[in-house]
Amino acid sequence: MDTLKKDFFIFSGTAHPELSKKIAKYLGVELGKIKIEKFPDGEIFVQFLESIRGGDVFIIQPTCYPSNNNIMELLIMLDAAKRASAERVTVAIPYYGYARQDRKDKPRVPITSKLLADLLTSAGADRILAMDLHADQIVGFFDIPVDHLYAAPVFVQYLKKRMGKNAVVVAPDSGSVKMAQRYSSSLNAGLAVIAKRRTNAVSVESSHLVGDVEGKTCLIIDDLTSTSGTLISAEKLLKKQGAKKIIAAISHCLLTELGVNRLLESDIEELVTTDSVPPCPFDCSKIKTLSVAPIFGESIKKIHIGGSLSTLFDKDDN
Ligand code: R5P
Repeated sequence: MDTLKKDFFIFSGTAHPELSKKIAKYLGVELGKIKIEKFPDGEIFVQFLESIRGGDVFIIQPTCYPSNNNIMELLIMLDAAKRASAERVTVAIPYYGYARQDRKDKPRVPITSKLLADLLTSAGADRILAMDLHADQIVGFFDIPVDHLYAAPVFVQYLKKRMGKNAVVVAPDSGSVKMAQRYSSSLNAGLAVIAKRRTNAVSVESSHLVGDVEGKTCLIIDDLTSTSGTLISAEKLLKKQGAKKIIAAISHCLLTELGVNRLLESDIEELVTTDSVPPCPFDCSKIKTLSVAPIFGESIKKIHIGGSLSTLFDKDDN
């Protein structure tokens, strides 16, 4: 019962073809044939080069940099798939961008994570497959089924070897507390929480630490990093409080040049991440990338055959 049926199709957008190929390889299939081109004025053209009529279609596209282009391309792929009479279209979004603007915490600001959910649904998505969303409640922004995957099984296997007995998992802000709790339970480590305040787009202030980190190996957990502002601010506070060694596990590595330089200059020994987005274009010896292709491959297979996804995760992962 767990083999792919004839109506199974899997396609990649242009955001991260390497990951798509790995997922297809895991599934033992070829990626579907599709033409994606740009008109001279920058508009995007998409054409499926094989019939997908009545098909169970999967499209893989993280909405990472260049986000606006990758989102628009995905919307156009969805439109083309629906107009080609696909029976069901599932969008696998290894990194769901625009997610940080998920609440109206100031006057006259948007909620872009909800806007993106509406756009995907209007364009024709029947189902979403995402990983380590910025906040669990983003699932509720969709009126279609969302399967929320966790990179935890991949991270935990690696981190168990890297962390000794005297370890503590650190949430660098209030938004990452739940994630840190799950890792502290899976890794059998302590838990510490930092109070963070963003001062501007590239700087944050980590003011208070709750928990004991003295003489310990600290693992900072977060969904993403961009300028490393959150990481280095947490690292400074942890060092001040006597941490012995600091490593970080970040699901989506969106490091800018500033972020890489800050990471290299910091006392963070290693940044463990996943291949949910393409590799960082700037050289950084501290980054270790683990693949989430098997998690996506297995989940896609389960969705296709109508199996349960919760069996893929440990009770502490979800
Ligand atoms: C914020 O809530 C996120 O979870 C990350 O902590 C943040 O976006 C990281 O960005 P940066 O590396 O620029 O501090």
